[in-house]
Amino acid sequence: MLSNPLALIAEVTHRCPLHCVYCSNPLELAGTPSELSTEEWTNVFQQCGKLGMLHAHFTGGEPLARTDLAELISAARAAGLYTNLITSGIGLNEERLQALVDAGLDHIQISFQDSREQAANWIAGAKAHTHKIELARAIRRQVGEKKIAFTVNLVVHRQNLDHLEEMIGFIEQLHPERVEIAHTQYYGWALANRAALLPTRAQLEKAVAIVAEAEKRLAGRIRIDSVVPDYYAKYPKACMGGWGRRLMLINPAGKVLPCHAAEVLPGLSFENVREKTLGWIWQESSSFRRFRGEDWMPEPCRSCDRRTEDFGGCRCQAFLLAGDATVTDPACSLAPSHGIVESAVREANADAAVAQPAPASSFVQLQNANTELWSYRTNPE
Ligand code: SF4
Ligand code: FES
Repeated sequence: MLSNPLALIAEVTHRCPLHCVYCSNPLELAGTPSELSTEEWTNVFQQCGKLGMLHAHFTGGEPLARTDLAELISAARAAGLYTNLITSGIGLNEERLQALVDAGLDHIQISFQDSREQAANWIAGAKAHTHKIELARAIRRQVGEKKIAFTVNLVVHRQNLDHLEEMIGFIEQLHPERVEIAHTQYYGWALANRAALLPTRAQLEKAVAIVAEAEKRLAGRIRIDSVVPDYYAKYPKACMGGWGRRLMLINPAGKVLPCHAAEVLPGLSFENVREKTLGWIWQESSSFRRFRGEDWMPEPCRSCDRRTEDFGGCRCQAFLLAGDATVTDPACSLAPSHGIVESAVREANADAAVAQPAPASSFVQLQNANTELWSYRTNPE
């Protein structure tokens, strides 16, 4: 029996004032003229409510780039959804924050690129760091009045892991209830920039110990969630909790996807909420059924005990790395194509590469050479 989806990931726009080099948005971004209107999103949230969905995660791009965001949040709340805003904070001030809270915002997650201003701005390709700190304090005041829940998200990678301890200390001062230490996932822009972002094994091992120590120290005050990046894990992540099992993602142009990267997969076509209902798409569409369950699985997944936990890993990663969405995720150590991931890890740990991570003090030199180091995320037309 297929249960209804639990949550909607609403990519309300691909516009963004930041240009983060680790962005997992697709390289081909949805243009502004194609974005769903306020009424269309409102209709989507009503359908979500009827399907018994629980959460709406507002993301992008930068959701604050939508001037109607308060209306969208209010519509989601009216449909009975718990509302979560995933944001860089750029485009928010105290007044707008208040308006979003009044509209029914339940939770806000603000991302930081680094604890050091220059480094944070360098990774984001924009001067944003100082503003985010001010904003985090304003959010904290709302949390103090018990109006919203507050998470800080820190994306970590080769260029900042060496001062993870300092970054956790910095976040502590912002007093969130929860910290998410998110290792970069290699999709979209992050995959294009992987050589500059994939950490070394030594960096990762040190980071795991630092996180364990911080968890102990902050227990009862700040919850820390952190997952080992799957290039270094033995088994892959259960991407999206399994294809078509829990989540639906709607992109700015209304395409309904099982995950954020699905559009890269050849041979699949995705329905649009302008043409079909969410209920139909969930139950009947060929795209949501394609990798649901176990029938599609190849060996070794088909006879592996872990298949009910990780569902064979990530279909998009299988395609992006092995060129075939139907094979076991190459991140799995049992996958026939695991050599692809091993070779990326080997390169990241090769002598020359190991010397490359920027000591924070020398990042300015890297900044000057950034066109060679990585490509910044662009903006849609
Ligand atoms: Fe998961 Fe498949 Fe690897 Fe087993 S073989 S751990 S099911 S990805
Ligand atoms: Fe598409 Fe993992 S990102 S299945």
